[in-house]
Amino acid sequence: MKGDPKVLEALNSLLADELTAINQYMVHSEMCDNWGYEKLHKSIGKRAISEMKHAEKLIERILFLDSAPVVNVLREIRIGSDVPKMFSNDHDSETAAIKAYNAAILLTGDAKDFATRELLEDILKDEDGHIDGIETVQDEIAQMGVQFFLSTQVG
Ligand SMILES: [Fe+2]
Ligand SMILES: [Fe+2]
Repeated sequence: MKGDPKVLEALNSLLADELTAINQYMVHSEMCDNWGYEKLHKSIGKRAISEMKHAEKLIERILFLDSAPVVNVLREIRIGSDVPKMFSNDHDSETAAIKAYNAAILLTGDAKDFATRELLEDILKDEDGHIDGIETVQDEIAQMGVQFFLSTQVG
């Protein structure tokens, strides 16, 4: 089925965001593993895999809409040098993703592509969950202090 060009452009742009997030989160997850923060390693790794599933769904949809997924475009990958900086950078990524998904959802409505809209709405709910998880950690760090928080994340 031939897709609307503007919708396809938006899907490829979201794909670039997802591919960037996968890389950033994977590095953050492995840095936490390297420091011995096993719980953070697992939770950030889980978030990276969730973004991978989003990328998979976007690729699938772009192919269905008779177009070619662009997988060689990445945005700036922002690696945090410590845990609070990681979460701050990841918070920025999720904020940008939520904004971009909301804008793309409006676009799919204009193009009357409601099946794509439904897919994007499902992904948007996951992004809401991601930012919720990040903000929980940021609150815990603010309330416990970073050293105590990190002591709860070891193995
Ligand atoms: Fe995502
Ligand atoms: Fe996300």
